[in-house]
Parts: sequence; C-alpha cells; structure tokens
Amino acid sequence: MNPEARQEVLVTDVTAEARPVDPTAAPAEEVEEAGLRPRTLGEFVGQGQLTEHLQIVIEAALKRQQPVDHLLFAGPPGLGKTSLAGIVAAEMGVGMRITAGPVLVRAGDLAALLTDLQEGDVLFIDEIHRLHRSVEEILYPAMEDFKLDILIGKGPTARSLRLDLPRFTLVGATTRTGLVAGPLRDRFGFVGRLDLYDVEELQSIVTRSASILDVPIDADGAQRIAERSRGTPRIANRLLRRVRDYVEVRAEGSITSPAAVAGLEVFGVDELGLDKVDRSILDVLCRKFAGRPVGLTTLAQCIGEEPDTIEDAYEPYLLQQGLIQRTTRGRVAAPRGWAHLGLTPVESTLL
Ligand SMILES: Nc1ncnc2c1ncn2[C@@H]1O[C@H](COP(=O)(O)OP(=O)(O)O)[C@@H](O)[C@H]1O
Ligand SMILES: [Mg+2]
Repeated sequence: MNPEARQEVLVTDVTAEARPVDPTAAPAEEVEEAGLRPRTLGEFVGQGQLTEHLQIVIEAALKRQQPVDHLLFAGPPGLGKTSLAGIVAAEMGVGMRITAGPVLVRAGDLAALLTDLQEGDVLFIDEIHRLHRSVEEILYPAMEDFKLDILIGKGPTARSLRLDLPRFTLVGATTRTGLVAGPLRDRFGFVGRLDLYDVEELQSIVTRSASILDVPIDADGAQRIAERSRGTPRIANRLLRRVRDYVEVRAEGSITSPAAVAGLEVFGVDELGLDKVDRSILDVLCRKFAGRPVGLTTLAQCIGEEPDTIEDAYEPYLLQQGLIQRTTRGRVAAPRGWAHLGLTPVESTLL
C-alpha cells in the first residue's frame, strides 16, 4: 500500500483507539469526532510553540530523508495528542500504527507490532505510562538501535537473538510525564507539553468543526461554546454537537449566542463549563468536608470516579480557573470555588 492509503486506513482505525478518560462520549460520536481531527499542522489550532518546534523537527527530518526522532506528547485528555501523532505521520508521508500501553500485555505483543512496521512508519503508543515492564524493556533497544532482542527456547538452552527493525518513529502520549519511567523518557528526542487552550483558540476550533458538520454558527455562538469547553478541544466539539441537537429541535437550526446558552443550560453546562463531576468535586470540598483538605482517594470515592480521572481530566481546569487548590494535606476549594456555588468560605481550622 502506498503511504497515503495506509494513513487513511489507520486514521479511520482511530475509532478503535483506547480511550482513557471521557466516558461520556458515545461510540457513534467517535466516528464523527475522527472527521473533526486536524490532519495537518496548518489545521491544528493553538499550541504555537509546540507546533513550531514540530514543524522544524519534521522539516529537518524530511530534508535528511530520515524518520523523525521519537516524540513524547504530554497533557490532559482531549488536547490533541493523538491528532498530533497522525499529523506527524501525514506530514512525513508515512503510515501509522496505533496502540496503547495497557493493551500490550506481553513482550510478544509489541514485538509483533514492531516487526510489522515499514521503514519510516510512526508507531503511536497512547497511555505510554501504563506500559508493562516486560514490554518497556524490549522498547529500549528498539528505540535506541532499531533492534529487537528475542529469546528463543527456555531454561539453560535458551538463546537470545537480535533482529534488525526498520527505522521508525515512536510517538508516545501520556496524561502525565511524571508517570513515564525516567529511562523511557530519556529515549525520546523531543517532549512536547500540551496546555489547556484559551477561549479564542477554542472559538476557532468550534467554528472549523461547525463548518465540517455543516451547522450554521455565528462568532458569538462559537464564543459561548468556547467559554464553556474547559480549555479542551474534545469538549468543545462535544458541546458543539449538543448545541447542534438543541438548535435543530428547539431553535431555528443556527447557533447564535442565545441559542448556544439555552442549549448548554439544557445539558447542565454552567457558564464556566463545569459539568456534574466538576460541581460534585466542589460540593464535596465545600459542603461535605466544610473546607477541610481532602485527599485524592477520598475525593474520588465520594464522587464515584477513579483518582486518575480526577487528577488527569478534572483538576487541571479547576486549578487553572482558581476554583480549587492543592495543599500538602489535600485538595481544598479556593475562594472562587466557594463563590461559584454561592457559598461563603468556611475557614478550616486544619489549614
Ligand atoms: N489543536 C487542535 N485543533 C483542532 N482540533 C483539535 C485540536 N486538538 C484537538 N482537537 C480536536 O479534539 C479531539 C480530541 O483530540 P485528540 O487528539 O484525540 O486528544 P488526546 O489524544 O490528547 O486525548 C480531536 O478529534 C480533534 O477534533
Ligand atoms: Mg488520544
């Protein structure tokens, strides 16, 4: 298959991608979301410094006719890590294989993927911080020397064999760099951190997505959605789809500012974009614990979510908005968090 065709196949394959967080997205919408994915660096909105660095790395590799150095993308879910991996492959004109840390159970699972790569291909490993140790170990020589060490036989007669692999680019994604083992992190030639997007960037993402989905939207309508997207393109696209549903059924079919606000209210998204989980986090901190610091595990139990989900998907935005604070004793609501619930802060004696 030529590289373009292979890329296509694998891009549609994105629906099978392991999804760490975002349990609210319905499968049918994943297909639609794949259609909203930016395909080139030019289509990728925001993350200015990161995309500039990538542009240089890619151009230099193309000029040298070599694969791009291994890349690690880190940041909260829904900010564009998977999209960037696809963009790197597309810009290099190579194929991409997609897998995820928890899916690779035995060393052989990774070996099978590696030996199936073609020269220059991108191997994308999502949630790379969740790789099993035995799998991680065969990744080291593969990344460093493009060699695969395999063990043949068992016990005293076992022999080790070293196979050549095609030169490839490993693109890893993680919600937290801190969880990627040091030796693995050191083997990436480039680590890119993705930050939450500002409203203007999200507004242009919403506008672009609306035109792909063929929904009429005006600038104010796009801004209302952007303001409530928690700095996250995936959420912006999801809210856009909900508002589209609303205007198709209850309004004239086009997204204006009042229509967007009304639609988002129906779906329980408030003016800061907080959803039910965000609000229950604030509620637990302010009402249940009355301002006392709460540990992550306790907080997770109170609201019935995984601690990882809270830390990766919810806290970054709540912290960025100054709604909560992390202290050495645990999480507490910040004054703005109390105010958001319409409460007066209770001074905790433990603080
Ligand atoms: N910079 C961006 N510009 C435009 N759309 C984006 C951008 N980043 C993410 N998206 C949209 O958000 C969705 C989620 O992005 P994705 O790459 O899957 O995030 P991650 O892998 O970090 O969880 C994509 O389908 C895409 O439509
Ligand atoms: Mg992803």
